Amino acid sequence: MSETAKIELGGTTYEFPVIEGTENEKAIDISNLRAATGYVTLDTGYKNTGATTSAITFLDGEEGILKYRGYPIEELAEKATFIEVAYLLIYGNLPTVIELETFRSNITKHTLVHEDMKQFFEAYPAKAHPMGVLSSMVCSLSTFYPESLDPNRSAQAKDLTILRLLAKLPTLAAWAYKNSTRHPFMYPKNEFDYCKNFLYMMFAMPTEEFKVDPVVVDALNKLFILHADHEQNCSTSTVRIVGSSQANLYASISAGISALWGPLHGGANQEVIEMLEKIHADGGDVDKWVLKAKDKEDSFRLMGFGHRVYKNFDPRAKIIKKACDDILTKLGVNDPLLAIAKKLEQVALEDEYFKSRNLYPNVDFYSGIIYKALGIPTEMFTVMFAIGRLPGWIAQWKEMTENKEPIGRPRQIYTGEVLREYVPIEKR
Ligand code: SDX
Repeated sequence: MSETAKIELGGTTYEFPVIEGTENEKAIDISNLRAATGYVTLDTGYKNTGATTSAITFLDGEEGILKYRGYPIEELAEKATFIEVAYLLIYGNLPTVIELETFRSNITKHTLVHEDMKQFFEAYPAKAHPMGVLSSMVCSLSTFYPESLDPNRSAQAKDLTILRLLAKLPTLAAWAYKNSTRHPFMYPKNEFDYCKNFLYMMFAMPTEEFKVDPVVVDALNKLFILHADHEQNCSTSTVRIVGSSQANLYASISAGISALWGPLHGGANQEVIEMLEKIHADGGDVDKWVLKAKDKEDSFRLMGFGHRVYKNFDPRAKIIKKACDDILTKLGVNDPLLAIAKKLEQVALEDEYFKSRNLYPNVDFYSGIIYKALGIPTEMFTVMFAIGRLPGWIAQWKEMTENKEPIGRPRQIYTGEVLREYVPIEKR
């Protein structure tokens, strides 16, 4: 007999089915709640609410487990390439040699951006935040590819849009940076792999030969893999709900980029470095800033700490922290911010306030220190997160469309005025 949940309302007992996932997670299926009882549920921030079922990513917040399509993140970060992981997330399995080569070569065919789009960049001020540029540029791609406006046109059309997005996002991101420096745009070089090509477009100059340390390319590959998907987080849920209206993929991803920008989400990686720089400038008094983070009267939060799901260490943070030491040593970078970050972590993890709230470093706490060592400017940190997260957003959108999920439209409980009569302005 499968498990059910009984709810007693107004003297009547209602029964609802319990569903169980492949990792033994359980949910009460309330799809029929309102029809049966007239009640809806209320769960601000969806802290207890599952919006969908998904076969893409599994994470266990208590155990600090993260797996993409069943593969542990630790293995993928160590052994895979980012493009391989992108294929895994989007198409469900690790690619064969032929599948990977076809995927990689198809991506290189679409790395150029329509020349007319360069005028858009020139209209932005140098101080434009690259996340604002990226979100608008991605949505603007839909205006150059009208056949993408119908997301259900065909599997081939869907795959072509997916390839175009994966191929063009690094170009758009690098050009947003070049536009801020007013340096000449660098066109993609198809002989480079995905990460090296992005670094080339970011840092190469037409007057010099481009050289990049393989350590930097490997670090970027690892960071992109660690950011590639994270089940139903804020930006992914945004991509899914925008896509559920049958808006095109470019518009859905553009919305995801905007959601990621927030300092409570992907924008935290920029906030962490700015916080560490503030603490450094203030003399490095970590205890003082931990006190501020605990003070309810003080709006300061320890950025890069805490997580809605991980009530144990974020497995990505562990990998990035270790990579920090390796990469900075290999690059000969001695960044005082790393020592401050480690001291901050140590003080916080011994403090009752953080322990009692299960607040641990998350993926954003150490990533900025690596980006800084790679020469990525602070304002580009969340753009790096977006490039890494793109395959996950695409995979989740594709799953939602293929499962023919209904348009997302949550309910509410109204708490406003009940009935009022219109009063002409002269009598108000
Ligand atoms: C990402 O969802 C994902 O998967 C996201 C992500 C992904 O890969 O997509 O993992 C990426 O967004 C990581 C999170 C990046 N954000 C930050 O680092 C910003 C700082 N962290 C917080 O703002 C906060 O921890 C959140 C937003 C991450 C989670 O917030 P919740 O789950 O809504 O928890 P909460 O704000 O209700 O906090 C619970 C308690 C509160 O104290 P009390 O009211 O119980 O007294 O913990 C406190 C909070 O004040 N708290 C913090 C804190 N985070 C939570 N106090 C100080 N510093 C912090 N960082």
